[in-house]
Amino acid sequence: MNEVADATRFAELWSSLADVGRDRVTGGYRRFAWTSADLACRDWFASQAADRGLTVEIDRNGNQWAWWLPESGALGAAANADERRNALAIGSHLDSVPDGGAFDGPLGVISALAAVDLLRARDWRPQRPIVIANFADEEGARFGIACAGSRLLTGQLDAAKARALRDGDGVRLADAMESAGQDPDALGRDDERLASISEFVELHIEQGRGLIDQDAPVGVASSIWPHGRWRFDFAGEANHAGTTALDDRRDPMLTYANTVLSARKKARLGGALATFGKVSVEPNGTNAIPSRVSAWLDSRAPDEAALDAVVEQISEAARERGARDGTTVEVVNESRTAIVEFDHGLRDKIRKTLTDVFGPVPQLPTGAGHDAGILAAELPTAMLFVRNPSGLSHTPAEHAEAADCLTGVAALAEVVAQLAGAQPGKNRGSGA
Ligand code: GLV
Ligand code: MN
Ligand code: MN
Repeated sequence: MNEVADATRFAELWSSLADVGRDRVTGGYRRFAWTSADLACRDWFASQAADRGLTVEIDRNGNQWAWWLPESGALGAAANADERRNALAIGSHLDSVPDGGAFDGPLGVISALAAVDLLRARDWRPQRPIVIANFADEEGARFGIACAGSRLLTGQLDAAKARALRDGDGVRLADAMESAGQDPDALGRDDERLASISEFVELHIEQGRGLIDQDAPVGVASSIWPHGRWRFDFAGEANHAGTTALDDRRDPMLTYANTVLSARKKARLGGALATFGKVSVEPNGTNAIPSRVSAWLDSRAPDEAALDAVVEQISEAARERGARDGTTVEVVNESRTAIVEFDHGLRDKIRKTLTDVFGPVPQLPTGAGHDAGILAAELPTAMLFVRNPSGLSHTPAEHAEAADCLTGVAALAEVVAQLAGAQPGKNRGSGA
């Protein structure tokens, strides 16, 4: 292969999304599901797809799909369900965590569009449908459940439970979706759509240092660690900060603080990860002992037993400390994702394709969750990772070099050509 995506076109595509939902002060992104920033991202996706003659659909769960159909000559002419069978899906998500980086999600969507451009420039035509996905609400930053769009699509998130989720301001997911023109009553497993997709390949920035350490611009995912989110509610007694003797306090902040320290220790001893990254305090006054602290534990581990063990140990440490502090502790599991082993056949095929073109391509596990991990329960899925020179992610400092991004596009195009061409290489022209 070795033809690469056009650097100028890629840069233009990149900059056309760069300002959407970006905080001017921090430079980070705040593209939370169904907010105006997210809707602007969705409009951007629809317009990029339209510019390429792709037909955009929004499914019952709010995920966007842009179709490139075979035999239509012009890209993506309207077609019935029969013509959409056996599709190869590519893409990722456009929403972000609070103060997220530019690459987590958008790199996969932008690379999918650029891969289509690259294949068209070569005069390549698909032998089966290709569809670019923009999955809704991957980060769960607003309503708390990560990969909500793909979980709803597969039925892994119950529709009634999803409708009732509330954001930090008390807005229900159902109402947020309705305000955005999406029918919340339609949420639920979508058998027809799942039946139309045969494979999903998600390109994503790597969120660790695996590829730097192996000196490779692109890698292939092997597995995703099991992970989940647990809400810890610490309840005590509100009182005056200046008049309440230390011995008389029932301070949930103290129990929370000790739980954070315990989490770190238990995770280290158990070979797991444990993070308290979000906390809410009532009444949140400087001169008042809080009545309540709610904090969210994100925990991940190489296997299910290690994950169960670390969460149980942290919960137990919290309860023990609560008994000493005169506080109560309730632990509620808000989401949990089992270990994902990506489809070996698809992974090996992709690895061989890329190795033939780029030389050795590392295979690596990740602790980050992805829509490809959710869809893996339904159909063969795979992931390509693009090198992240600092390993930083979920921060405005997240970065990938332009040359590596272009290699990622070339790799994705090669994978698409391999998987959706009649025979590898047969349909390729000499262009671009
Ligand atoms: C998704 O980015 C996650 O939190 O793993
Ligand atoms: Mn993320
Ligand atoms: Mn992501």
